[in-house]
Amino acid sequence: MTLQAIRYNRGSLEILDQLLLPHETHFFAINDTTDGWSAIKKMQVRGAPAIAIVGCLSLAVELTKTEVGSVSELQKLVERKLDYLITSRPTASNMAEAACRIKALMENVAKGEGKVYTPQEATLVIIKECESMMEKDIDINKRLGKFGAEHILEHNAKPQVNIMTHCNTGSLATAGYGTALGVIRYLHENNKLGHVYCTETRPYNQGARLTAYELLHEKIKASLICDSAAAACLKVKNVDAVIVGADRVTANGDTANKIGTCQIAIAAKYHNVPFYVACPLTTFDPSTQSGEDIVIEERPHSEITFIKGIKIAADIDCWNPGFDVTPAELITGGIITEFGVFKANEIKEKLQLLGKS
Ligand code: MRU
Repeated sequence: MTLQAIRYNRGSLEILDQLLLPHETHFFAINDTTDGWSAIKKMQVRGAPAIAIVGCLSLAVELTKTEVGSVSELQKLVERKLDYLITSRPTASNMAEAACRIKALMENVAKGEGKVYTPQEATLVIIKECESMMEKDIDINKRLGKFGAEHILEHNAKPQVNIMTHCNTGSLATAGYGTALGVIRYLHENNKLGHVYCTETRPYNQGARLTAYELLHEKIKASLICDSAAAACLKVKNVDAVIVGADRVTANGDTANKIGTCQIAIAAKYHNVPFYVACPLTTFDPSTQSGEDIVIEERPHSEITFIKGIKIAADIDCWNPGFDVTPAELITGGIITEFGVFKANEIKEKLQLLGKS
């Protein structure tokens, strides 16, 4: 059974507290957007697609309990709640993309062209839109998993490939299956996977706590490495490709992802190992021109200096960016999407040609 971190039935949302993994499996209720915002901020749920899904489902739950007197009152409420949810974490683009899409839908409903909605009917349209995100995300992940795996195998003569990944991009970071981990999962399902190397991903340890947990759950052959061992691993462990996720891909293909990604891309280029980014189109932000313009979240110093309440560092100042930007030129394998694998610096044009952006 694939891991599931989000449990939803209309009016009820529960999420797995990822701060407690891998030692404790504890689900807790998200009753409204305030709870959703807080769970995202505290990183009880994280990963760009999961942030958007939980944010929007928290809105859906709140709406099931909210009586509005008119469609325009609903519109104001929905816009306010979406604007609030976007402020939870600034770097990943998926929540902002979802907010934009739901606002546009709300506007159409409010215009009442073709059909005049009662406040209750309009509320249901928004709830259903939020609910549809779970199923769509799994479908997208499966499609991109297949595209990515096929691309890697086409460019590799070996019957089984060894993959390095960073951070957590699996079922815990999405509605299920995963992005970079979805590609790995697809290779594994088709008996084309040799070995996986996952980085611990300091300081939140998404790799050591979450990816390792998912890999063990799926019985995938894997080793955990320190972030600082990535270059050495690329040199001596016959890694055939690096695959990571993304929080925001800009118009020129520059990509923000978990801190530590860029140094792996640099090492991969040096060692001639193709470097791939796997993400749904909802992570693509064509309105931002380059990585220079991405807002990088800075996290509390205590994430570096404390582990489970125990101080592990001297009393020194810290700098704790949550993400870094990998320039398009270092994404040598390509960007894996649900519509295929594209060269990073051509992604905007390719998606425009396909009518997808
Ligand atoms: O800080 P996080 O854990 O939310 O960062 C997650 C990542 O950087 C992931 O690689 C990215 O969101 C893609 S998840 C499918």
